[in-house]
Amino acid sequence: MRVAIGSDHRGVSVRPKVIELVAGLGHATEDMGTFETEPVDYPDIAALVADRVSKGEADRGILICGTGLGMSIAANKFAGVRAAACHDRVTAEKSRRHNDLNVLCFSADLLGEQLIQRIVTIWLATPFDGGRHARRVEKIAALERAIAARR
Ligand code: RB5
Repeated sequence: MRVAIGSDHRGVSVRPKVIELVAGLGHATEDMGTFETEPVDYPDIAALVADRVSKGEADRGILICGTGLGMSIAANKFAGVRAAACHDRVTAEKSRRHNDLNVLCFSADLLGEQLIQRIVTIWLATPFDGGRHARRVEKIAALERAIAARR
């Protein structure tokens, strides 16, 4: 898969390790920054990654900030993006099986390196279950279309 990966300043030291892990698992990675240690605004980085996924230029995205929360809020503004903060093995697996999550967000501040590696590895390897979950994910897409049509 093609995986676009970004972080704000809080995730700047974690991101290279995540990129190395994802590449080592056989995926093509695209590093969307930030490349500075000075504070940056997380919506700017979320937009770079979410835009790639929204346009189909990346299959998946990974976003890292202090909590994982701001990144997920911003990324979900993009059509077709399903982003959420995952914080353990269960949320990483369920986010794929039930929600077909295409942008994984997580906290650089609250999770240890080993747990981050497990979350990323599980999330990349777990398929979408489809079935009743596909109906629900399609309803999310329908909401998105209905809201866009009101504008
Ligand atoms: C930056 O200080 C912090 O707000 C950001 O990394 C993230 O946690 C926002 O949700």
